Amino acid sequence: KDTPVDGPKRVLLAAPRGYCAGVDRAVIAVEKALELYGAPVYVRKQIVHNVHVVSELEKQGAIFVDEVDEVPRGSHLVFSAHGVSPAVVNAAAARGLRAIDATCPLVTKVHREAVRFARDDFEILLIGHEGHEEVEGTAGEAPEHTTLVGSPDEADTIVVRNPEKVVWLSQTTLSVDETMETVSRLRARFPLLQDPPSDDICYATQNRQVAIKKIAEASDLVLVVGSANSSNSVRLVEVALEYGARAAYRVDFASEVKQEWLDGVATVGVTSGASVPEELVTELLRDLAGAGFGDVQEVKTAEEDLLFSLPKELRKDLAGNN
Ligand code: F3S
Repeated sequence: KDTPVDGPKRVLLAAPRGYCAGVDRAVIAVEKALELYGAPVYVRKQIVHNVHVVSELEKQGAIFVDEVDEVPRGSHLVFSAHGVSPAVVNAAAARGLRAIDATCPLVTKVHREAVRFARDDFEILLIGHEGHEEVEGTAGEAPEHTTLVGSPDEADTIVVRNPEKVVWLSQTTLSVDETMETVSRLRARFPLLQDPPSDDICYATQNRQVAIKKIAEASDLVLVVGSANSSNSVRLVEVALEYGARAAYRVDFASEVKQEWLDGVATVGVTSGASVPEELVTELLRDLAGAGFGDVQEVKTAEEDLLFSLPKELRKDLAGNN
């Protein structure tokens, strides 16, 4: 607590941080649906894992539900960025709902891989967190062919039917390092394990981890803006600690930062998860400036310019409106 502050106080601000292309698209999809069809528009699960985003959309007339059967027949229903299993798509159709699929295209890509490997009778070792919506959606493409691997330790104990026909796929928002450890432990047991055709951990997750690694060691404290159920945000805290941050915390809002976290701190690293609007980071920087951390240096490790077009159902109706 009494560590003297050496050097002037400063903030190292990670870039890239915050919104990824998939989140941006999903949030705009809900807003456009509200404009086009009027409130209420239903959304299955949180559109993205951020409490602020969800409450702002609720104010505009979005209604978040857990399951399809909570939605009145004939309504518009948006599927969240994390994706849905075919069972959910079918249930929505059977209920006469007008679905708008805001699944991130990079999640859809993993779904397609799952379908293809299952068709070729591979057993899919899906690395991811049990209970996460994305994992439920991906596994739901081929439940009989999928085994979830939740951690490196689980790689040592899972049982497969035929070790000659196994492939690993993953959730898009994992720790790159931990996933590679899981894969190498799987491969030690199943040498014929196939890799996914391309990275399943998405560019945004990877870029945010690279950026926080770069500033973690120089940071006495790392603050990650993001919600508790946001996988990529929680990973950023872990990665910061692994890469030498003396302390790291996740906060939804600037007001959650505790005064004592700043005691004896000279350098604060700041980043935000892929579902976090920049205004929440701006608020945090304002509070930090008030606490003497007005010197902000951005540390940029990649440029991002990916943009996804809106879900096709919306594009069609938007075109019809003009
Ligand atoms: Fe998509 Fe990655 Fe964002 S999978 S929603 S681009 S975190």
